[in-house]
Amino acid sequence: MVQELTHPAIAPEMRPELEAFWMPFTANRQFKAHPRIFVSAKDMHYTTEDGRQVLDATAGLWCVNAGHCRAKIAEAVARQVNTLDFGPTFQMGHDVVFELADRLVKIAPAGQFDHVFFGNSGSEAVESALKIAIAYHRVRGEGTRTRLIGRERGYHGVNFGGISVGGISTVRKFFGSLLPGVDHLPHTFNLQHQAFSKGQPDWGAHLADELERIVALHDASNIAAVIVEPVAGSTGVLIPPKGYLQRLRQICDKYGILLIFDEVITGFGRLGAPFAADYFGVVPDMITVAKGITNGTVPMGAVFVRQGIYDAFMNAPNNAIEFFHGYTYSGHPVACAAAIATLDIYNEEGLFDRANSLADYWQEAVHSLKGLPYVIDIRNLGLVAGIELEAIPGKPTARAFDAFLRAYQKGLLIRTTGDIIALSPPLIIEKQQIDQIVEMLGEILHDLP
Ligand SMILES: Cc1ncc(COP(=O)(O)O)c(C=O)c1O
Repeated sequence: MVQELTHPAIAPEMRPELEAFWMPFTANRQFKAHPRIFVSAKDMHYTTEDGRQVLDATAGLWCVNAGHCRAKIAEAVARQVNTLDFGPTFQMGHDVVFELADRLVKIAPAGQFDHVFFGNSGSEAVESALKIAIAYHRVRGEGTRTRLIGRERGYHGVNFGGISVGGISTVRKFFGSLLPGVDHLPHTFNLQHQAFSKGQPDWGAHLADELERIVALHDASNIAAVIVEPVAGSTGVLIPPKGYLQRLRQICDKYGILLIFDEVITGFGRLGAPFAADYFGVVPDMITVAKGITNGTVPMGAVFVRQGIYDAFMNAPNNAIEFFHGYTYSGHPVACAAAIATLDIYNEEGLFDRANSLADYWQEAVHSLKGLPYVIDIRNLGLVAGIELEAIPGKPTARAFDAFLRAYQKGLLIRTTGDIIALSPPLIIEKQQIDQIVEMLGEILHDLP
């Protein structure tokens, strides 16, 4: 029996229809007392229930890279629902899932990824990748390689594998002992050495050498994979130091450890290249994606695997299932149709190049906020930025949340995590809208108590 709340969730007579939904990653009582509700969206803007336009500086939740309510995607989804609404992918197939997988491997980095495994979210992509890593070593006769290495402040979704390798304490601490056999690299942020770096910080490549220490502790023969976000997003935009990812790759190669890039945020153009792997010139062994794969329209996640990984599983006897993993909706036809239409838009409109061509303008615009009250760091790469505020003593997160509420009132959607404002606008953004974001943020920061 659930204990009676000492603080009723809301004054239910205000909006009782809002009560039943247990909102994820939300201060439910605060929200239900002061709801912020969108009713529609188009391109760069949301419309609120009270008819206001809100400029989307976060591409929804880092996902609507081509802007909102794109007709081409809506039409593809409608057509698919009316043609083949659902088709199993266990022992059966349908045309759109094969078409999509083929399209994806063709844009994957360095032409080196030849298969794709589908799920329905970033979290499922991560779980799938971790399981593929452990099973891959086992089918090759190295079944002792079961340990997984994540990184402090990493975010890899909310399932047990993801929170185990992840490194954000609030996302982990309520959920018991998590997966055994996990270790963590240190995160790469250092305010003293990196504050207000434009693009990749110069300081910090040596932090990758911590992997050598972890290997020495556990022995390479027990380690399956290292998973990192090339740019850590959800923890508040941490940009990898110059040379850091290259060094991680070298150490993984030295010890036969698989390197997984979690590109749920960085995939599909966020940095001005198709994937972060392209941007940094570092090829991992697996890439997890979600969000931008369907422009956020229909849930989908996927894992790209590098040549040789799929083949290692193909030694099972004929007619035997080679990998006992999958979701009812792996490669759901409607999600596939949305993804194919999304890839068409990215391609036809050159949106990844567009992000690249706007990156310098974006950088200068966001760094112009330096000097405003409480701003202790600004970081950026591609069309991503993080603005870190000094926390109110004893009240972590409160200042950034205040900024978030003020932004919403002003007509701007930002995302905050801890005391960091994270920005990641759709890649269709115009320069004048970048100016607008910075102008509104400037006013908000200026007015913060
Ligand atoms: C890097 C990364 N991995 C995984 C996830 C989880 O994705 P989802 O919320 O779709 O499960 C996220 C979500 O923000 C993410 O940023």
